[in-house]
Amino acid sequence: VRRITVPQIAARKGGTPIVSLTSYHAHTAAIVDEHADFILVGDSLGMVMHGMETTVGVPIELMIMHGRAVVRGTKRALIVVDMPFGSYEESPNVAFRNAATIMKETQCGAVKLEGGARMAETIRFLTERGIPVMAHIGLTPQSSHVMGGFKTQGRDEDSWPAHIADARAVAEAGAFALVVEGVVEPLARQITEAVPIPTIGIGASADCDGQILVLEDMLGLGSRPPKFVRVYGDLGAQIEASVRRYAEDVRERSFPGPDETYR
Ligand code: KIV
Ligand code: NA
Repeated sequence: VRRITVPQIAARKGGTPIVSLTSYHAHTAAIVDEHADFILVGDSLGMVMHGMETTVGVPIELMIMHGRAVVRGTKRALIVVDMPFGSYEESPNVAFRNAATIMKETQCGAVKLEGGARMAETIRFLTERGIPVMAHIGLTPQSSHVMGGFKTQGRDEDSWPAHIADARAVAEAGAFALVVEGVVEPLARQITEAVPIPTIGIGASADCDGQILVLEDMLGLGSRPPKFVRVYGDLGAQIEASVRRYAEDVRERSFPGPDETYR
């Protein structure tokens, strides 16, 4: 089976909404693969899988390890891997070196990086050299130390032109799609109307050309998610109940039983 391609995603502008979720490991990726158009190996894995406070501490090696697992576990969806903080901001050359390493080591189909107009030169440098780039604007978690936290963007209308300029800049530079995170609805709509590439919203209203959520957030696994997450599952409670029963069974020697024992 051939995977969904970058041009196929790019062609979905204004069409049936693009479906995406994050995944960091082979088994969940295999499930998501049956339903999503692309899967993001997000640097949110630093927080979700490794208990970090922010995504700033995520090393490129970790993105490669999880990226490989997700590529191995899937066959249909386009796999996009996040470039972690510090691996691309310095210069287009550094970004190319690290993006090429991520693509070679994981066999993913594209990379994602955060930033608007300031990253346009780098996005052009990568796309002209064979690396498809998904951009990410609005609330950009790698800049949370500058922004003073994970803050919804665009509450002040005066900030809208800069966000729209960011969207235009990354599209003109060759990004094939654009994650728009944590922005008020009218700004999400204006960004989506301003660019010829699909916008993928997360906390950015139903007006975007697609949606993405962090898988663990929508499964109800882990800490209380942000307002924009719809919680479809209760995995945290299911795991807790299973572990509790296992512990009880071990303590009362009812596990393992005859069926779980080699005679
Ligand atoms: O790291 C991540 O999971 C992301 C998405 C939520 C867009 O960047
Ligand atoms: Na990310």
